[in-house]
Amino acid sequence: MEPFPPALGLSSEQTEQLLRLAGAAPSLHNRQPWRFRLSPESIELFCDPRRRLPAADPDDRELRVGCGAALLNLRIALAQAGIRPDVTLVPRTGGPWALAHVRVAEHADPAPPESELFRAIPVRRSNRRPFLPDPVPLAHCQALVRAVQAEDCWLHVVERSQLGVLENLVRTAHRAQLDDPAFVAEMLEWTGRGPGEVEGVPAASAGPLPEPQDQWVLRDFSGGQARIRLPGKDFEYDPLLLVLCSHSGTRTADLEAGQALQRMLLTATSLGLVASLISQVTEVGEVREELRRLLGGSLHPQAVVRVGYGTPAPATPRREPRELLVDQAGA
Ligand SMILES: Cc1cc2nc3c(=O)[nH]c(=O)nc-3n(C[C@H](O)[C@H](O)[C@H](O)COP(=O)(O)O)c2cc1C
Repeated sequence: MEPFPPALGLSSEQTEQLLRLAGAAPSLHNRQPWRFRLSPESIELFCDPRRRLPAADPDDRELRVGCGAALLNLRIALAQAGIRPDVTLVPRTGGPWALAHVRVAEHADPAPPESELFRAIPVRRSNRRPFLPDPVPLAHCQALVRAVQAEDCWLHVVERSQLGVLENLVRTAHRAQLDDPAFVAEMLEWTGRGPGEVEGVPAASAGPLPEPQDQWVLRDFSGGQARIRLPGKDFEYDPLLLVLCSHSGTRTADLEAGQALQRMLLTATSLGLVASLISQVTEVGEVREELRRLLGGSLHPQAVVRVGYGTPAPATPRREPRELLVDQAGA
């Protein structure tokens, strides 16, 4: 087999590991819509249009959010390898699918907080199970807010008085999506996957089968399969819900939101917290507008995240780094 193409002065093995860590990012239905072109001077990030999810994500916003999360992993892994990266988002060159161009800014030792995030990359998981009743300490919540702000985005901590309105919005969006045969078909295709698959959400990651009284985790990721009920399946009474927002609605802002989301999820992981996303409310256009109005009208809601303490969730599969390479000739 050909050696893995090296980039940015790293060895072949280091570059392969770099892409493995970038590819450990979360993505809608685990479609892993990122691709990379490597050269000695740069790493280019592209989105893969074959991995679009047009029913859930017609504008490719979440596709870019996922790619932004992969970019944050790449930045953290580069820092760990002693490279401070210089990143250009949505570069003019590289064609319509180019999302970022990464070069070496300087060589420097990694800062200790970044090393903690680095260690969190392979152990972060989406956790759709009920969380424990223990509240998230205020200092942890503040750390999540700072993580998001460090990536030029905004984190709204949902107040108790807003929980009822948000729950109604989630239910409205959920019903609208279930009424859409294209959405249901897409969801069935990419969830409830068996062992041996390299993309999509495995049935084992689905969490308990949603029930009518459940408030937040409404999506069935089992692909419609009956599953063994988890014991003690009551969801937390007082969840910590966070709305991650960007300051504008551009493609660049979507990538910033993805990086902010991932910095927040890695921070949560390093603090011993678990998280899952509740995306119905940001996927259905009119409902997203209502959420936007609820937050004052100027921010752009990008992701709703539930955070708490939980029991371990299984890892989801990933494609091999080699499969993430754009043909080096640029095809
Ligand atoms: C933009 C985006 C939206 C997502 N929406 C949801 C969601 O609504 N519900 C959910 O349970 N997981 C959601 N996820 C999580 C993915 O399903 C998850 O990242 C993927 O299956 C890989 O699993 P992992 O996060 O455990 O690595 C979302 C992820 C991203 C990046």
